[in-house]
Amino acid sequence: MTVNQNADPGATRSTGAGDIQAYRAQLLYFRDTPKAEDEACEWIRDGLLVVRDGVIEQCGEHDRLIGDLPPGTSVHDWRNHLITPGFIDTHIHYPQTDMIASPAPGLLPWLETYTFPTERRFENPEYAQDVAKFFLDELLRCGTTTALVYCTVHPGSAQAFFAESHARNLRMVAGKVMMDRNCPEYLRDTAESGARDSEDLLRRWHGTGRQMYALTPRFAPTSTPEQLGRCSELAQRYPDVFIQSHVAENRDEVKWVMDLFPGYRSYLDIYDRYGLLRPRAVYGHCVWLDDDDWRRLRDSGAVAAHCPTSNQFLGSGLFDHATARNFGTPVTLATDVGGGSSFSMLQTMNEAHKIARLSGHHLTARRMFWQATQGAAKHLGLTGRIGTLEAGAEADFIVLDPKATPLLARRSAYAESLEELLFALAMLGDDRAIAATYAAGREVHRRARTAAHP
Ligand code: GUN
Ligand code: ZN
Repeated sequence: MTVNQNADPGATRSTGAGDIQAYRAQLLYFRDTPKAEDEACEWIRDGLLVVRDGVIEQCGEHDRLIGDLPPGTSVHDWRNHLITPGFIDTHIHYPQTDMIASPAPGLLPWLETYTFPTERRFENPEYAQDVAKFFLDELLRCGTTTALVYCTVHPGSAQAFFAESHARNLRMVAGKVMMDRNCPEYLRDTAESGARDSEDLLRRWHGTGRQMYALTPRFAPTSTPEQLGRCSELAQRYPDVFIQSHVAENRDEVKWVMDLFPGYRSYLDIYDRYGLLRPRAVYGHCVWLDDDDWRRLRDSGAVAAHCPTSNQFLGSGLFDHATARNFGTPVTLATDVGGGSSFSMLQTMNEAHKIARLSGHHLTARRMFWQATQGAAKHLGLTGRIGTLEAGAEADFIVLDPKATPLLARRSAYAESLEELLFALAMLGDDRAIAATYAAGREVHRRARTAAHP
């Protein structure tokens, strides 16, 4: 990558009219239209992205826009690369960073053996801060600029996460886990303290800079009816905060839940009856839903977060793309680290595609890129702010390198269409394919130089 200086040297032009930077590359994004993502896809082969003060000011053909740049504007030359909006991971656990890839025979033993003891370490705010830093570095290395993040039950874990994200000016959504039963004593809050701490945190962080809060009852089995009731009150009082939880991930879990909550039609029905299905509510997994659940999820405005690497790693089951699509229920993509085995949304697409294939469904690369950018923004109520390169959006974008590895270089050289190029990136790419990541117009990750990438 080289930087052309139109006139004066220096990476940044500051004239009092704001900091302006321009990026020349292939540009790919999806417009906000009700059309299918294929039709909403904008692909500009020789494009220019103009960013002023952390906001996208223009996005279009290089030859049309270059003449209008103020003299001296830095033009970052990313030709032969593809700029897309940063990825949005809609379900991930930052406290599970240090226990990713822990083997267990399924979800419930995995929680007992690895997850809960690891989450205990977040009693210590210094440890929380250390993990938050590493976790955010790792997201950015993988091109993820926004995530819906579970913290632990300790309010300090959320405080540490938000403080680090705010210092980097990242747009993140996070929340303290609420959990007052069916877990070790050392990880329990109470209905009262969970609600109080959550409210304190959301008042402190929701809307502070780019931070947003998510009420986070871990999953129905670890909350008493009283705690779900307190969570429901908060959800009503703060209608624009997010809600995140797990639902219908694993057969043993579903059976356990139905024993714990007799009289409910289904697992999802529990959240519904507590008023926790609504826009900006995001439910991880959704593997074992029935038709009524899919319909109800759609009608409520809530979102299903598909976690393919986790569902395979823990043997939870195969997400039913075809049914979700038939009902028109919003679906986003998520890593679910540390149940998920990769921070990379490209690898997440790879696995999502294979799971769809197993049920005879074809997920196009365009659709997966849409789900990981504009589609997620839309379903999270963040249209026009993130997930797009359209003017006015926050300048969270990534630079993808179709030649990141020798194999990717060979395959992408033979790509005969945009779909083939995106498909190769999704199947063969990972953190190595992210040449750089920008958040609010600032470079927050640059791939290390190697012999292959001098
Ligand atoms: N269900 C409840 N907690 C968790 C968790 O931490 N990870 C996963 N994958 N499922 C859960
Ligand atoms: Zn999860």
